[in-house]
Amino acid sequence: MFYTFAPMEGITNSIFRRTHARYFPGTDRYAAPFLAPDGQGRIKSAALLDLDPERNGGIPLLPQILCNSAGAFLALSRELAAMGYTEVNLNAGCPSGTVVPKHKGAGMLLDLRSLDAFLNEVFAHSRLRVSVKSRLGLESTAEFPAILEIYNRYPLSELILHARGRNGLYQSRPDLKAFAAAFLSSRAPLCYNGNILSPAHRDRVLAAVPDLERLMPGRGAVADPALIRQLRGGAPLEAQELSAFLEELFAANLAAGIGEYHSLGRMKEIWYYCGHLFPGAQRELKRLNKARSAGDYRAAAAALFASGRFDPRARFPGELPE
Ligand SMILES: Cc1cc2nc3c(=O)[nH]c(=O)nc-3n(C[C@H](O)[C@H](O)[C@H](O)COP(=O)(O)O)c2cc1C
Repeated sequence: MFYTFAPMEGITNSIFRRTHARYFPGTDRYAAPFLAPDGQGRIKSAALLDLDPERNGGIPLLPQILCNSAGAFLALSRELAAMGYTEVNLNAGCPSGTVVPKHKGAGMLLDLRSLDAFLNEVFAHSRLRVSVKSRLGLESTAEFPAILEIYNRYPLSELILHARGRNGLYQSRPDLKAFAAAFLSSRAPLCYNGNILSPAHRDRVLAAVPDLERLMPGRGAVADPALIRQLRGGAPLEAQELSAFLEELFAANLAAGIGEYHSLGRMKEIWYYCGHLFPGAQRELKRLNKARSAGDYRAAAAALFASGRFDPRARFPGELPE
């Protein structure tokens, strides 16, 4: 099985990826959160720097672009090629209310003729391999056969499917039937994404699509950074390694010059997910969320680990794919 860590904007940046790869080796590839260029394909230099291979400790990384202009996509792809990348991913899945109305992200699925024209131009000129990360539709996963017909016209290096429609945001039950049907008719190799939160969730996906070779966990792997190791048959997460990993992440943010306030904000976002490993520790989690200084934060994290509530079987909540 080939495991790609899902892109999560605001969370899985280079500091996270580098630290995760060191503490929890065994992830085949990390997908970077989207770059959103302007109409000319320009982007803030800090965003590109986050993809600098040196900053990423040499880990395999898949860059992603969110835009609906083929010219901008191609221009930014050329910059990525100059950095050494050989593949780029198109975001056709972001469900945000500020993105979709602009026909970007999952909004690319609003008008299939425009999607076709975009891909036509990109594939005519791209020197990089191009993959797509897509939802199964906007209002319903029943839209996917028509969408797949468009994708199948082009030699996508991979099609990563978040097995929900845009309307399901991150909550609805992933639609395994629709994914399994796509698996049979996709020209590109398929990667499954959506609610791989535990080995049981993974088993449900593999029961429906036994020949599947690519999986992409996201929130489940932030909530439990040892998830991929466990999916490979390795040991479950230990409190001590989680504690060391999170402390190193915090220290690395501070060392990178991210101010205390923003570093704390980043850690609180991660704790939103991995706090689920501490069932019943609401009081301690609240204290952590209120921390306003590095000292308060470290004391609150220490209290959480001392609470005795750590349970590696506890999970970020989410239904089994259906
Ligand atoms: C906070 C957050 C940020 C995300 N950022 C991105 C992104 O930059 N690019 C992308 O393709 N998907 C993004 N996603 C979607 C995830 O990659 C993934 O498709 C989704 O969370 C479903 O997988 P999961 O159930 O394993 O988390 C984001 C999701 C969340 C919750």
